[in-house]
Amino acid sequence: MAHERWLFLTGMDPTPSQALEVRSVRKTYGEGEAQVVAVDGVSLTVGAGEFVALMGASGCGKSTLLHVVAGLLEGAEGEVEVFGQQMVGRSERERTALRLKDVGVVFQDHLLVPELTAVENVELPLVMAGTPRAQAREQAVAMLARVGLEGLEDRVPDRMSGGQRQRVGIARAMVGGRRVLLADEPTGNLDTDSSRAVVGLVRQLCADGIAALVVTHDPRVAGAADRVLHMEDGRFVEQPSAWGQW
Ligand SMILES: Nc1ncnc2c1ncn2[C@@H]1O[C@H](COP(=O)(O)OP(=O)(O)OP(=O)(O)O)[C@@H](O)[C@H]1O
Ligand SMILES: [Mg+2]
Repeated sequence: MAHERWLFLTGMDPTPSQALEVRSVRKTYGEGEAQVVAVDGVSLTVGAGEFVALMGASGCGKSTLLHVVAGLLEGAEGEVEVFGQQMVGRSERERTALRLKDVGVVFQDHLLVPELTAVENVELPLVMAGTPRAQAREQAVAMLARVGLEGLEDRVPDRMSGGQRQRVGIARAMVGGRRVLLADEPTGNLDTDSSRAVVGLVRQLCADGIAALVVTHDPRVAGAADRVLHMEDGRFVEQPSAWGQW
């Protein structure tokens, strides 16, 4: 409170209370009769340190929403603010810059570069962003330790387990101090133990202040979240439809 008052007196904007603010987002694919409304006016917030799970039947729009939030799709309507910075309506170059600065994205497939070692994979986004090599290496090594992979820095993805690979993927997503984690079915290819490790890692990152939005079909993953959002036909619903009664 005192801090906010000080910011007010100095005329500076107080830090936005939400890490992620999504307002009235809509995204369609195709045109005319073939048009599909994938996301139909969705609003949500994720606070710093919060783990929010996004569930819903196949085709309801979860991945589309996540991609819009990540700034990976053209032509979305509405607003997406990442720590107060607008993502929707900006050029691809601006969206990429904002993503590189603050947003880590993880998919079901880890998408690691097979020829590169774990540490080389993790330092890749830093090197691409122009971080000096030695500094990038230092941060990547520290990030790998943070995800519990100390000692595996020089392994190539082929010689790691699925769970270890996904943790490298999360390390690559979050390296460099990014504060928002967006994950689309991060445990979709993993066995129970590896899934538990990945969920534990998300919880640990959130305890360090990261905001996480995680798409999942797995009720156990959702069970570990602070909040669960349910989507149907491009919109949020209070309660998922009871298919059992059909
Ligand atoms: N590139 C695309 N072109 C046209 N339609 C698309 C495209 N991508 C998705 N869609 C459609 O948009 C809707 C939402 O798809 P989306 O992939 O967001 O669903 P989802 O909830 O992630 O599904 P799943 O659980 O199967 O991954 C679906 O009707 C889908 O067919
Ligand atoms: Mg999907």
